[in-house]
Amino acid sequence: MQHTKSVIRGVGHYVPPRVVTNHDLSTIMETSNEWIVERTGILERHFVDEGVHTSHLAEQAVRNLFDNTGLGVKDVDYILFATLSPDFYFPGVGPILQNRMGFHRIPALDIRTQCSGFVYGVSTADALIRSGQAGRVLLVCAEVQSPVLDMTTAGRDTAVLFGDGAAAVIIESQSGSRSQILKDQNSGILDSILGSDGSGAEALCLRAPGSASVGFIRHEDIEKGNTRPKMDGRTVFKNAVTRMAEVVSEILERNKVSASEIDLVIPHQANMRINEFLREKLHLPKEKVFNNIEKYGNTTSATIPICLSEAIQQGRLKKGDLIVTVAFGAGFTWGANLLRW
Ligand code: UT7
Repeated sequence: MQHTKSVIRGVGHYVPPRVVTNHDLSTIMETSNEWIVERTGILERHFVDEGVHTSHLAEQAVRNLFDNTGLGVKDVDYILFATLSPDFYFPGVGPILQNRMGFHRIPALDIRTQCSGFVYGVSTADALIRSGQAGRVLLVCAEVQSPVLDMTTAGRDTAVLFGDGAAAVIIESQSGSRSQILKDQNSGILDSILGSDGSGAEALCLRAPGSASVGFIRHEDIEKGNTRPKMDGRTVFKNAVTRMAEVVSEILERNKVSASEIDLVIPHQANMRINEFLREKLHLPKEKVFNNIEKYGNTTSATIPICLSEAIQQGRLKKGDLIVTVAFGAGFTWGANLLRW
């Protein structure tokens, strides 16, 4: 009898070339390099120039992925697109990318779980593959967030955190007899755990446009700043540290793996203090947690696959390594994946 598992075939990423440093931000709002570094770990981020959309960043990331894997548009049979910053309110960006890059008329599904977009995407791709609905899934995570940030002192608590960027992975099916699959236990998506708690929806949200506003967007929404992201940073921070530590413990326990057996944890990049807390909780040495928040800030759905892509480029992953990815974001939503490289 044939058994199927899902494996990550390759990764590619792309960030727009314009670098914006903490110092640059301190010239347009009341903030400082010291505050941003001490509270978040961020040194700089990349911002798009006017006219560059999420689908453009996505396309570049997918082209890099294709260069890395030797695959092309004809080899993909499902597009998953995780983003909180689609080109249009509707339709999703998946079909826009499908058309722009000339994919077959394959399914294109947008995922709206914000910073948890990648971990939800991996879980969804794995389910599509195991159920026989897809053979090779393109999971794209891309965000253009800079144009919507409030770049005044009133918005500094969120404006200094976010950046633009994109990454894409190919997740594909590997079939064989049960014994072959077990023998080759080395690579694949081993497990995913996801969660949500909508009682936190208003702690991090962008209210308009939305059906909660009459006509989706009112003058009042613009005047009140409802078209900008708003965050209760402390509430989000507290929930992030709790849920991320919880879900990692849960996925390790469920798979009978101890924290010391993990080769690399790749956490969402929202705040270096959150990731340090997680590392201490798991008693892991610094080299076992991958961070690059200093260069990109929080690129929402794209943080984890950008880290994955850089980890590969830096030779930090070798075949057989056990990897945990973990994220927490608006919704609230969270999740973790356990992967064997
Ligand atoms: O990806 C989705 C998940 N997102 C997150 O996980 C983010 C979670 N939250 C955080 O990372 C942190 O809460 C922040 C980085 C957003 C804020 O750090 P904090 O240590 O919680 O600061 P705070 O909000 O308690 O603010 C402390 C002070 C305040 O001044 P007062 O009231 O003490 O005088 C703020 O007005 O820092 C001030 N402040 C700033 N000062 C300089 C807030 N933002 C800034 C800024 N520059 N950019």
